[in-house]
Amino acid sequence: MIESSKVNKILYGGDYNPEQWPEEIWEEDMRLFKLAHVDVVTLNVFSWAALQPDESTYDFSKLDKIMECVQKNGLKVCLATSTAAHPAWMARKYPDILRTEYNGMKRKFGSRHNSCPNSPTYRKYSVALAEKLAERYKDYDNIVAWHISNEYGGECYCENCEKAFRVWLQKKYKTIEELNRVWNTSFWGHTMYDWDDVVLPDLRTEEFSWDGRPRTNFQGISLDYRRFNSDSMLECFKLERDVVKKYTPEIPVTTNLMGCYQPLDYRKWAKEMDFVSWDSYPAFGAEYGHNAMCHDVMRGLKQGMPYALMEQTPSVSNWHKYCALKRPGVMRLLSYQALAHGADTVMFFQMRRSIGACEKYHGALIDHVGTENTRVFREMTALGKELEQLGDKTLGARSRAKAAIVFDWDNWWASSLSAGPSEAINYYDEVFTYYCSLLQMHIPVDIIGVTDDISGYQLVAAPLLYMCKDGFDEKIRKFVKEGGTFLTTYFSGYVEDHDLVITGGYPGRLRDILGIWVEESDAVPVEDIGIRHTFTYKGKTYPAEILCDLLHLEGAESLGAYDNDFYAGMPAVTKNRFGKGCAYYVATHSDAAFYRELLTEIAAECGLESLAVTENHGAEACDAENGAGQLLTMVETTLRENEEGRFLFLLNHGEKEEKVMLKEGGSDLLSGKHYEGGAGLVLEAKGVALLQLG
Ligand code: GLA
Ligand code: ZN
Repeated sequence: MIESSKVNKILYGGDYNPEQWPEEIWEEDMRLFKLAHVDVVTLNVFSWAALQPDESTYDFSKLDKIMECVQKNGLKVCLATSTAAHPAWMARKYPDILRTEYNGMKRKFGSRHNSCPNSPTYRKYSVALAEKLAERYKDYDNIVAWHISNEYGGECYCENCEKAFRVWLQKKYKTIEELNRVWNTSFWGHTMYDWDDVVLPDLRTEEFSWDGRPRTNFQGISLDYRRFNSDSMLECFKLERDVVKKYTPEIPVTTNLMGCYQPLDYRKWAKEMDFVSWDSYPAFGAEYGHNAMCHDVMRGLKQGMPYALMEQTPSVSNWHKYCALKRPGVMRLLSYQALAHGADTVMFFQMRRSIGACEKYHGALIDHVGTENTRVFREMTALGKELEQLGDKTLGARSRAKAAIVFDWDNWWASSLSAGPSEAINYYDEVFTYYCSLLQMHIPVDIIGVTDDISGYQLVAAPLLYMCKDGFDEKIRKFVKEGGTFLTTYFSGYVEDHDLVITGGYPGRLRDILGIWVEESDAVPVEDIGIRHTFTYKGKTYPAEILCDLLHLEGAESLGAYDNDFYAGMPAVTKNRFGKGCAYYVATHSDAAFYRELLTEIAAECGLESLAVTENHGAEACDAENGAGQLLTMVETTLRENEEGRFLFLLNHGEKEEKVMLKEGGSDLLSGKHYEGGAGLVLEAKGVALLQLG
C-alpha cells in the first residue's frame, strides 16, 4: 500500500472480522465506517478453519461475500493469508505442526501463532492457502497489500526444528570442524563428532533459568539457535510471499511486526518485505520515548522508507494487566506520533468488538453497544475527518536525520545471553538511554543496522556494541577518519560474529579508533551494598552504574574520572581524535543528567541542530514530574520532508499546556493558524501541531 498508485491519502481503518457476525451487521458496519471516514480494512486474519474445513475442501463462499461487500462500499483491503492459527483437523491429523516448548512440552491444539515453522505440513498447507487466495482475489483492484500470517513470533524446540537446525548449520559452517571452532566446543568436552550430535539449546540441554532469566552454557549454540529460529519463520513468510507474488506481482507484501521484539531479527526480515508494518501497543502511562524509539526502529529497517501503522488500539488493550482507557486525545496523539516518525497509515485493531473469547474487551471502533454514540467512535471520526483533509500532503515524506544510533539484533541476543559480567546489562535500555537524550533535545535520529550506509551522518552512536561484526569496525574507522563522530560504551568490541572473544585487549577491533585499552571491568551490584560509585565530568558528579571499565589511555584524552574505590582517578569518559573525526567512549552507565550534558557537547561539536525549543526545557520539569532519569520535556518533535514541503510535527505528551519556540515559521495544517519564526506555539495537553514550514 505504501508508495502505491492506489493510495492518495493516509489510509485509515484496520482489522475487521465480519466472519464473526451475521450479514445484517455488515450493512450496519458499512454505514458506521462511512461515518468514521474509514477507508481500509484488514480482512481474513484468522479464517483458516473456515476457509479449509478439511484436508481437501476449500470454501471461500463467505470471504467472497465479504470481499464483494467491502468493494461495493469503496473500501480498500489489506488481505491477510490466515495462516497464523492452524485448523483443528490439521493438528489432529498431523501433530508435527504442533510446537514444542522450551521445557520440552509438546503442545496440543489451541491458542494461535502455534505452528512449528519447520513443519513440512504447515509449510505445505499455509502456502497452498495463500496461493488459493491470491488466485481467487487477484483481480480485486482495491487490494492495497498482502498481510502474510500475523505477528510471527515465539520459538519451537521440536524434532522438525532440530533436524532443520542441523541443515541450517551445515549450510552456514560447511564442516563439523568449523562448527566446533565457532562454538568453542573444546570447552567442557562438547566436541561434536557428527551433525546428528547437535541438539537444540533448551531447558533439556544447554539452557537453564536463573532467577527467571534464561541462561546458557554455550553462547555460540544459543545465539545460532536464535538466528535459526528467526530465519525459520522468515522462510515461512517468504514461501507465502513468493506464491502470492506469482499472481499479483504489483501488490506489495508485508507482515505486521511488533516493534522492538527480540526473538526475530527484523532487519533481516525487512529485506524480504515490500514495506514494513507494525503493531503499536504502548502500555498505559509508558514513557512516550519507548514508542518513539520503536517507530524509529521500524522506519530504520528499510532505510527510512515510510511504513504502515498496522494496528493500535482505539482505547484499551485487553492483554495489559490493567486495561486503562486511552484518555481523550491520546488515540489522536499516538496516531500522529506514528505519522511523525514516518508512518503513512493509521490503522487499528479492531473495527468491531467480538462477543466471545479473550479479545471481547479489546478496544474497537464499534463497541458492544453497536452505535456511533460513544466517545471512542466520536474521537475516531474526528481523526478520520482530519486525516481526510490532510490528503496526500505528507505521504512519502522522509526524515533527514544527521545522527544515527545502531540497534542490532545479534548484539541484543549476544549481550543478553552472556554469562557475566553483569545481569544488569540490558542492550535495549542502554540504546534507549542515548536515544532518549537526543529525542528530548529535539534532535532527529535514525536507528540503523551495522550493514547500513553511515557516510551521511555526523554522529553514529553504537551503545553496548558487544559484538563488533566483521567489517563494521572498518566502516567506523573510515567514518571517523573522514570526520565523523563515533560513540560507544562499556561492554563493547569484545567478540566477533560467533561470540568468540577478540584477543589482544578490549575493546578489540575498536581499540585503535577509541584510543583506549580496557584492562578490567567491575560490575556494580544493583542491590545497595553501601558503595556508591561515581565519576566527575566537567566538575559535576554522576553515578557510575552497571559496569565500570578500568581503562588506560592509548592516545585518547580523559574527559572525566572515577571518584572512588581502587580505580579512583582512572578515566570514565574518553575522547580520541582519529583522522579528521573523533570517538567517544563512556566506560560506565550513568543518569539522564549526564547523558544530557555529554550529548549537548557532542551535538554542538558535530553541528546537530534541534528542531525546536520548548520553553520549560529545564531540569525542574524533569525532577518534579518524571523523576530522575526520565524524559525532560513532554513535547516531542520530528521533521518529515517530501516534494510538497517540510513538515514539523509537535506532540505534547504531557498533562499540561506547553509552549514551543519555533525556529522557523509555518502554517499548522490542523488548526489553520500561521506562525512566524521565533514565535511561541502553545500546545494544549495531548495536543498536536503539524506545521508546514516556510
Ligand atoms: C495483536 C494481533 C491482533 C490482536 C491484537 C490485540 O496485535 O495482531 O490480532 O490480537 O494484538 O491487541
Ligand atoms: Zn518445531
